[in-house]
Amino acid sequence: MGEGSVAGLSREVRERRKGDLTNQSLPPLFSGLTRTSVDRLHGKTPLCFDRVVSLARSRWRLPILTWGIARKPPALLAHLLFSEATIARMRFDVLQRLPARLKRLRDRDIVPRYPRVHLGAGTRKVAGWLNVDLRGSDYDVDLASGRLPWRTNSLDCVVSEHVIEHLELRNELLPLLSELQRVIRPSGEIWLSCPDIEKVCRSYVDHRMVDLLEDRYARWKGYSLHGMPISHLINDFFHQWGQHKNLFDFELLEWALTSSGFDDVRRISEADLLARFPEFPERRDDLEALYVRASVPAAATAAAAPGRVPFL
Ligand SMILES: C[S@@+](CC[C@H](N)C(=O)[O-])C[C@H]1O[C@@H](n2cnc3c(N)ncnc32)[C@H](O)[C@@H]1O
Repeated sequence: MGEGSVAGLSREVRERRKGDLTNQSLPPLFSGLTRTSVDRLHGKTPLCFDRVVSLARSRWRLPILTWGIARKPPALLAHLLFSEATIARMRFDVLQRLPARLKRLRDRDIVPRYPRVHLGAGTRKVAGWLNVDLRGSDYDVDLASGRLPWRTNSLDCVVSEHVIEHLELRNELLPLLSELQRVIRPSGEIWLSCPDIEKVCRSYVDHRMVDLLEDRYARWKGYSLHGMPISHLINDFFHQWGQHKNLFDFELLEWALTSSGFDDVRRISEADLLARFPEFPERRDDLEALYVRASVPAAATAAAAPGRVPFL
C-alpha cells in the first residue's frame, strides 16, 4: 500500500495529509540527532522548527554543537551510549514511575476516599471518583508496581480507559488485575477499554486504515503521520512511540481477566459504559476500541487471586 491509498480519504483529511507530506523533505539536524528527535521537535515546536533547520545548515553549526555539548553533557552522553527508546524508557521510569512508587511505599490497607476508582485518568478526571494516575491525580499510583495500596474489598468498581495497553502483560497487567480482584468487593465491577487488535487489523485488510485515519484526524487534534505512508498508522496503534506494550482482542482480555479471578466477562460498547456511568466524558472511539466489563465472583476471597508479585 502506498500513497495511492490516500485517494480514499475525504478532502479535509487529504489536506492534512498534504501537510504531512511536506515534512518528508526535512533533513536531520545533526548526525547525532535521530529522525525521532527531529519528529518530536517538529511535533512540539512547529513554528521555530524551520529556523532550527536553517541554523543546523548554516556555518554556525559547529559552534552551536560545541555550545550544546558544553551545556548538556549528561544528555549528550546518554545519546552517545543509549538508543532513543532506552532513554525514553529510563526517563519514564525515573521521572514518572519511581516518584509514584516512592509516594506509596508506606501506603497499605488504605480505605479510598471514594469506592469508585478511575485508573489512568490522565486529564479526564471524573467527579465523584478517585482519579488515579502516575502524577497530578487525586492519588498517584504506579499501576505497574505489582501492588495496590487499598484495603481488600474496599472498592465497588473500577473504570480504566486506554491504560492496560501501556502495561506488560505478564509482569505488570496480570499482577494489577489480581490486585484489583483483591481490592474490588465481591460482585463489584471492572470496566476496561483499549485499542482492539481485531478492529485495527480488519481496518488494515478491509479499508487500508483509511477509516481509522479519518477517525483519528477527527478526534485527535494535531495527529500526524509525518509524511509516512498510511500503513504506518498500524504501528502507531501497536506501539505508540514505545508507549504501548500489547493490544488486546476480546479473547486475550477475557483470558487475562478470568485468569486473574474475574468472571462474567462481556464485550460491551462505549454506550454501555456511558449508560452505566453518565458522568464519564465521551471518547467516541468504538471504531478502534474494545470495551469489556467483568465482575468479581460473589464468593471471591483475597486468597483466590493468583499471580501476586512482590512490590519493588
Ligand atoms: C492513553 S492515556 C489515557 C488517559 C484517559 N484514561 C483517557 O481515556 O483519555 C494513558 C494513561 O495511563 C497512564 N499510565 C500509563 N502507565 C501507567 C502506570 N504504570 N501507572 C499509572 N498510570 C499509568 C498515563 O499516565 C496516561 O494518563
